[in-house]
Amino acid sequence: MNTSVEYMGLTLKNPIIVGSCGLMSTVDGLMQAEQYGAGAVVVKSVFEEQIIYDIKRNTKFMAPTDHYGVSYEYIAQHVEADSLNKHFDVIREAKRKMQIPVIGSINCYSFENWLTYAKRFEDAGCDALELNMAILPYETNMGTDDVERLFQNIMTAIRKYVSVPIAVKVGVHFTNMAQYMQQLSWMGLGAITLFNRPINIDIDLDKEQTVMAPRLSTPDEIYNTLRWVAILAKKVRCPLSASSGVHTPDGVVKMLLAGATTVQVVSCLYKNGLPYITELVKGLEQWMTEHNYERVDQFRGKLAVGPSEESSLFFRSQFMKHFAEI
Ligand SMILES: Cc1cc2nc3c(=O)[nH]c(=O)nc-3n(C[C@H](O)[C@H](O)[C@H](O)COP(=O)(O)O)c2cc1C
Repeated sequence: MNTSVEYMGLTLKNPIIVGSCGLMSTVDGLMQAEQYGAGAVVVKSVFEEQIIYDIKRNTKFMAPTDHYGVSYEYIAQHVEADSLNKHFDVIREAKRKMQIPVIGSINCYSFENWLTYAKRFEDAGCDALELNMAILPYETNMGTDDVERLFQNIMTAIRKYVSVPIAVKVGVHFTNMAQYMQQLSWMGLGAITLFNRPINIDIDLDKEQTVMAPRLSTPDEIYNTLRWVAILAKKVRCPLSASSGVHTPDGVVKMLLAGATTVQVVSCLYKNGLPYITELVKGLEQWMTEHNYERVDQFRGKLAVGPSEESSLFFRSQFMKHFAEI
């Protein structure tokens, strides 16, 4: 049996990728993911805010103007380089020690740093780069066009600036999800990752304060991802990586049947530990054996909406069928 898949020009021994998260911030964590059988890993994102925070923390005793004869600018650059180098050292060492693809991840807010960080990641030797584009339309004066234009400008510029394959990881907040994802896929992307999961906010009623909602996904969250993977897989011009709500081997198989090329997992590894990757791989192999499949491409996308099939019709008819049966 062969579980390998082609993803962004890389050959993965299986479609299971450990998604970007704290477990993937050290060489040790990355190597464990490989040891337990992951097909690839996405390193914890470098967040521009974190770098800016480091700069502020290290220069808090200085005025932005010259204080001790040393320029603020000079120290800030030094701190930024130092903070970034810690991330790049992880990539360099992981690449030296590991066989499976190592995918870098960045999350910036200034246009310039999207480009600078992407280039630095490429130079550090990552096999591909995932752009964690968690740009949400929070502001009432921000229209659909503004968000979409921002995405497109960043991607076009990065594509010109670096040569490693680029995946873009998007959230669920798009007005015209199907059409826009198709347009993104025409921009020469290596892959689209569906979906990022924003940090949710809850309210503590005793303290009357906002607090962080649970960070981990629940198995129920698979259905939204499954829907969009099935709708888009045969309509976009690049592979899809499914992320959000995959907690079991069955979940992995469902995403592949819906048309995902790879499946990213995070929350289930926080709950069960990194050895659970082995269970996911074994479960996929067992299902393939039971269904007489030798290769993943024999069943991948079997349940996706066809390239010229109307998705709305497909989902509407499913809806009516379901309610007619009740
Ligand atoms: C603790 C934690 C840290 C995360 N950090 C990142 C990150 O740095 N970059 C990123 O793109 N996604 C990050 N994510 C999101 C995951 O990569 C993933 O998209 C999300 O958790 C949904 O997948 P899941 O249902 O398998 O957890 C993080 C998730 C968790 C739980």
